[in-house]
Amino acid sequence: MSKKEIEIAKNRLSSGEVVIFPTETVYGIGCDATKDMAVNLLYKLKKRPKNNPIICHFANLEDIKKNFYINKTELLLAEKFWPGPLTLILKKKKISKISPLVSNHNEYVGCRIPKNKITQELLSKVKFPIAAPSANITSETSVTLPEDLNPFFKENILILNDGPAKLGLESTVLKINKNIIEILRLGSLSEEMINKKINNEIIINQKSNLSPGNLLKHYSPKKPLRMNIKSVNDNEGLLNFGSTNLFSKVFNLNLSSKGNLEEAANNFFHYIHLLDQSKCQKIAVVPIPNIGLGKTLNDRLKRASFKN
Ligand code: TXA
Ligand code: MG
Repeated sequence: MSKKEIEIAKNRLSSGEVVIFPTETVYGIGCDATKDMAVNLLYKLKKRPKNNPIICHFANLEDIKKNFYINKTELLLAEKFWPGPLTLILKKKKISKISPLVSNHNEYVGCRIPKNKITQELLSKVKFPIAAPSANITSETSVTLPEDLNPFFKENILILNDGPAKLGLESTVLKINKNIIEILRLGSLSEEMINKKINNEIIINQKSNLSPGNLLKHYSPKKPLRMNIKSVNDNEGLLNFGSTNLFSKVFNLNLSSKGNLEEAANNFFHYIHLLDQSKCQKIAVVPIPNIGLGKTLNDRLKRASFKN
């Protein structure tokens, strides 16, 4: 990636256009978070309902503190996990210039400092936070490799290509309510990882109100998907995990033959794209252990398999 490409991305963002950029979780499609017109364009391109708020990406904690109130617990999480796959829902200060459209006029906004060199450089060059959802059309699967982007995005939007995303699942969205950490969306940061870093002093609650984006049908391939399968039908492609005896007559992929959940998370969205493009008519997924990142994978699979 040349300096020149980052400079072009900066100029486009500064003039109200959108740009696709890498993060450690998934690719984002972003714009100047302080410009109403640019944020409107982003919702339109993504076909996203306006009541589903967008995460703001920042270069550093100082910029976040200028725009948001941040309490002791939030600061602890910020210091432990940023830059990284954490999104914190914070209360916006009156002086902030972030567009109210980013959060559907709500004063609580999702904030994150991504861990990716190119995007860090871009964020430190622009004078505003970048509002960015995942770089997919609403309800479709997230993208971890630029090749998997929607053809319209590929043809019309500048892409900062940094190859495959390091982690592969979106950020974990947390909101602090008094001293309770509420998980609004499961993601690349597992509950176990949070617990490990904060000495179990803080209670984590998963039964809270979920993020507006946690729709029943989401992260969906174009083909019907079954999860927790025990056998594979003739027309199904197989998404395997670990060493099972299952086999598809059409198309086979294994998220991690060693049964490693990090590796599975890393391959997940790309493999769903490959299955979508393969000859199979339907997708069958073996059971994934419901621990650590497995919980996030099962969450995505549940939404991907939801029937309207
Ligand atoms: O890893 C990620 O989080 C990626 C990269 C690009 O940063 N972004 C991402 O954005 O996944 P998106 O828009 O696809 O998902 C954001 C999720 C949605 O479920 C949304 O409802 C929730 O975060 N969210 C955003 N702002 C929120 C807010 N103010 N309150 C509650 N939930 C919020
Ligand atoms: Mg998304």
